Amino acid sequence: MRALPILLLFTALFRAFSSSNDAYPSGYGDEPGICLSSSAKLQQREAYEGEIFDITHPYTPNTPLGDSAEGTGQILRLLMSMKNGSDYNLSEMRLCVHAGTHVDAPGHMYDNYFDQGFDVDTLDLRVLNGPTLVVDVPRDKNLTAEVMKSLNIPRGVKRVLFRTLNTDRRLMWKKGFDTSYVGFMEDGAQWLVDNTDIKLVGIDYLSVAAYDDLITAHLVFHKSREIILVEGLNLEGIELGIYGVHCLPLRLVGAEGSPIRCILIK
Ligand SMILES: *[C@@H]1O[C@H](CO)[C@@H](O)[C@H](O)[C@H]1NC(C)=O
Ligand SMILES: *[C@@H]1O[C@H](CO)[C@@H](O)[C@H](O)[C@H]1NC(C)=O
Ligand SMILES: *[C@@H]1O[C@H](CO)[C@@H](O)[C@H](O)[C@H]1NC(C)=O
Repeated sequence: MRALPILLLFTALFRAFSSSNDAYPSGYGDEPGICLSSSAKLQQREAYEGEIFDITHPYTPNTPLGDSAEGTGQILRLLMSMKNGSDYNLSEMRLCVHAGTHVDAPGHMYDNYFDQGFDVDTLDLRVLNGPTLVVDVPRDKNLTAEVMKSLNIPRGVKRVLFRTLNTDRRLMWKKGFDTSYVGFMEDGAQWLVDNTDIKLVGIDYLSVAAYDDLITAHLVFHKSREIILVEGLNLEGIELGIYGVHCLPLRLVGAEGSPIRCILIK
């Protein structure tokens, strides 16, 4: 009884690969329609994609979370378990949307933007994906206007990931929140807005804004709703330079933040 659907499946697959390209456009294989040639070509393309660096931290109960000494706590709960006789395992998750590697939406610190629906689902994927600079900043200061000026980031650069003392101190690997992290001071944020074309700001701890200017620096960044803040990135061991960055938040309608998966491609 099972043979028929499987036979139909094989017939369908055979048709998909052997009849010329209804299933995908030409250009993947030298001789369209010949399965072997297509897959060899695809494998070749894979080999040319370059190196991928995962700059997302894993989410665990010890993942740090703003203002919490205890970290994120239990994230996953098994609702159905094979150990208990279920046919499958099935988990549910509970996670603060600003824990670990995450993105902020304009509604995070502007209540009117929150009411107007500027949630993570409205974030521009063209800002979250594209060429980026990974830069090191001086280790003895927060990100002030003076520091920002000294970095000499050219006009036209739209995305910058800032590696700071936070990476050296491995703050994202410590479950207790540490308020002494490095981040933007209000004047540094304002300098970036006024003097650069940066639309994606990435940083290596839970907040782009230093704790002393936590609210004010966020307000400067979010005001125009054009700048996207990605926080809690793992930039350890990443060589400075130019990459393609790809960041994808979850489509959490109504949320002012979201966990985000970010990778760099060299
Ligand atoms: C299913 O869940 C149990 C815990 O009940 C776990 O030990 C096991 O590894 C899980 N199996 C799979 C395939 O994930
Ligand atoms: C399995 O069931 C027992 C008894 O109801 C419960 O104590 C235990 O937590 C369950 N384990 C899992 C993984 O769901
Ligand atoms: C950055 O600012 C925080 C307070 O927001 C402070 O605790 C920390 O020492 C400053 N870091 C540096 C390197 O100046």
